[in-house]
Amino acid sequence: MQIPSTVLTLPEAASTPIGAEVYRGLTDMPKHLSPWLFYDERGSQLFEAITRLPEYYLTRTEHGIFARNADEILEYAGCLPLTIVELGAGTAEKTGLLLQAAVRRQSRVDYVPIDVSETALDAAKQHLEAEIPGVRVAARVADYTQGIAEIPSPGRRRMVLYIGSSIGNFEPADGVRVLREVRRRLVPGDLLLLGVDHVKDAPTLLRAYDDEAGVTAEFNKNMLTRINRELGANFNTRLFRHRAKWNAEQSRIEIYLDSVIAQRVSIPALDLEVKFARGEAIHTESSYKFTPESIGAIIERAGFAVTQSWTDERDWFGVYLAASR
Ligand code: TRP
Repeated sequence: MQIPSTVLTLPEAASTPIGAEVYRGLTDMPKHLSPWLFYDERGSQLFEAITRLPEYYLTRTEHGIFARNADEILEYAGCLPLTIVELGAGTAEKTGLLLQAAVRRQSRVDYVPIDVSETALDAAKQHLEAEIPGVRVAARVADYTQGIAEIPSPGRRRMVLYIGSSIGNFEPADGVRVLREVRRRLVPGDLLLLGVDHVKDAPTLLRAYDDEAGVTAEFNKNMLTRINRELGANFNTRLFRHRAKWNAEQSRIEIYLDSVIAQRVSIPALDLEVKFARGEAIHTESSYKFTPESIGAIIERAGFAVTQSWTDERDWFGVYLAASR
């Protein structure tokens, strides 16, 4: 009798998004896991905590730029009225400053936050509509990296916010692709407002991704805890170490989980045993850092033209306004 040995029935879990990602990443060489795995409920809470850490200057610095320049940003945005769309809005803490400025100029503003987290969007709608009379929130639950079908066309000018240096988590070529997708949905004259982290001294960058209190380490290891819970794996988080590295050639921070000892981890839902050498790394995220020139090139390649930019007194973070061509 012929045994159909080539017909492998993968376990069901391997065809779920998390199963497929973990299988692919941990059987690859070198090992990697995708950053979207960070953001389960606990991971989202830990990221919120990261944004408040003394070492994590990004959120605070961008917030300061908006606090100081929101009115001017809206002025440069030109003729009214403007509809404001935000990719990966989360709870939209920083966006309130821009919406307030918009309401000062045009008394009412439509705001369309797009995010994968419905909980975050509910919170955004709640606090924005309560605190800023004149804002009307029409949230969309969607993953903007899978295309931007959700950008509405109200027949008015749109400003698309993509802030928090989220574009830095893509490889530059993929970042261009995401912005091009946005551009495809826009018409000439519509606007992009992009917030990105700037290149700076290595110690400052490294501290932002490896804080004293260990919150970032916990955030990184939470990925393993999630795989334990959702795929029945037996990662011992104490046997992995969080590591941040500044890669100057590529202009990016790289985040890893290093195996402290040689070990095997089993992932029953995937019918998989993963072998780690002592010191072997799992890459979990890259965070690119930009100069005005490098981000300008990305913006231009995506079909936008930079019209103005703002920074803080240390030049640590940049906010770039660009028009769709
Ligand atoms: N997008 C954030 C950033 O690149 C995410 C982040 C902050 C992060 N701290 C981290 C990701 C530590 C992995 C590990 O700044």
